[in-house]
Amino acid sequence: MSKTFPGLKALDDVSLEVHSGEVVAVLGHNGSGKSTLVKILAGVYQADSGSVVEVRNAEGQLAAGPDARSDLHFIHQDLGLADILTTVENLGLGTAARGRGFAPIHSRAERRRAQELIARFGVNFDVTVPVGRLSPAHRAIVAIARAMDGWTRPDNVLVLDEPTTALHGDEVQVLFEAVRRVAAAGAGVVFISHRLDEVLALADRVVVLRDGRVVAEESTSNLDHDQIVTLIAGRAIADISLEARGGPAEPVLTVSNINGAEIIDFSMTLRAGEIVGIGGILGSGREELAPLLFGSKYRFGGLVEIGGEELISDDTRAAIESGMAYVPADRRKSGAVMELSVRENLTLPMMRGLRRAFGRLDGRAERAETHSWMQIVGLRPPNPEQALKLFSGGNQQKVVLAKWLRVRPRVLLLDEPTQGVDVGAKAAIYELIMAARSDGTAILLCSSDTKELVSLCDRVLVFKGGRIVSEVQRGELTEERLVRDELALETRK
Ligand SMILES: Nc1ncnc2c1ncn2[C@@H]1O[C@H](COP(=O)(O)OP(=O)(O)OP(=O)(O)O)[C@@H](O)[C@H]1O
Ligand SMILES: [Mg+2]
Repeated sequence: MSKTFPGLKALDDVSLEVHSGEVVAVLGHNGSGKSTLVKILAGVYQADSGSVVEVRNAEGQLAAGPDARSDLHFIHQDLGLADILTTVENLGLGTAARGRGFAPIHSRAERRRAQELIARFGVNFDVTVPVGRLSPAHRAIVAIARAMDGWTRPDNVLVLDEPTTALHGDEVQVLFEAVRRVAAAGAGVVFISHRLDEVLALADRVVVLRDGRVVAEESTSNLDHDQIVTLIAGRAIADISLEARGGPAEPVLTVSNINGAEIIDFSMTLRAGEIVGIGGILGSGREELAPLLFGSKYRFGGLVEIGGEELISDDTRAAIESGMAYVPADRRKSGAVMELSVRENLTLPMMRGLRRAFGRLDGRAERAETHSWMQIVGLRPPNPEQALKLFSGGNQQKVVLAKWLRVRPRVLLLDEPTQGVDVGAKAAIYELIMAARSDGTAILLCSSDTKELVSLCDRVLVFKGGRIVSEVQRGELTEERLVRDELALETRK
């Protein structure tokens, strides 16, 4: 398979074979061509001429082209859901009768069936609201439920493009169980993920892409974590770890007794040059904290202060002006302007440093700065003038993060900062976060990735049921400890 975009060969003569009962992981750096491969299989993109996709079932019958497509099931990187439609509709279970201003109407049978399909993944939510209003994890579950339903035969093919980015440990396990089940029943599975632990847990074989070419193909049993890193990045990448630091600095952010939809009576202090992690399972309050502090979600009661000045709720502009920056988890939706170029997205939040006398933008300074950020995050392709929407998912993430790090904020709120980025970029992003810490930025790091919390944080606060159930200092930080506290498996000493 080959695929040429204007000025770029995204896939260059790639061959891939997936057998019945097998899980094949397709790996590679951001922009290496993984999603392009998936989109060709799905018929979203047309491959260059000469490319062939064939599906052969148990009896050896061959289906090619559009016929083969009904045997393929997808969970796309962007999930591919229609945001304005309900869960029932996205699952293909019925169309809502809708009048102006009325809520969609679904029959009781449709609702029950939709509830059943999502209940397999251990969740229960309103299936009659537009999926655009659901949380990222619930949206992912709708996409997963859809891909798992409506199989023509057990030996169909399932393709998952980073299905776990919005999911927490427990939900990931449920998904993996379901994937193992369909593989055991004869399905062939193609799995894409940047979380290498997941790859080792699920895949039988890995196929590694680099710049659109297959550079390695190996059985998982012959590989360990570090070897996979080297295959993807083309070099070994050392683990980053926090160096000790001097005495306590002054508090920059003080939060007293705030409340949100999930969070109850929360207080904390964040000091200059400190990284405080926020852990907790989905729905624990973890995802609500950053938007609540930034003001993009309504909070009531209590007080949020930066450098002694009170921040009013619901005023994100005031938050930015007092030196707060927020990198949201859902960057495609709220972190960036997809139609604008990388350069424009980068310089959007702060033009000040780039203004010359009389307020004219210094084009040369802007280009030079964009260029250096592009190198720091390893943007691929290195073309800052291209619209953001034409970059791969992980490259978009890197641009949004760079945009806020560039501002040198006093308080930096990070939500899932390395979700969906490759191992090389992850190391670069960790270095950027550590550099910001050395410069005295106060950092709040909300993450479902316990490994990330352990590597980067001076201390971690763990949410459960909207409240902090434990505070773990650097010296006692282990993944095991965090997972135990998040689930509160054991009563603590
Ligand atoms: N519609 C498009 N027009 C132009 N270039 C595109 C288009 N879609 C993708 N590309 C380019 O093709 C290359 C491969 O992108 P792709 O989305 O397949 O990467 P990926 O391996 O899925 O990366 P990630 O891990 O970040 O999701 C990238 O360089 C991307 O910028
Ligand atoms: Mg992709």
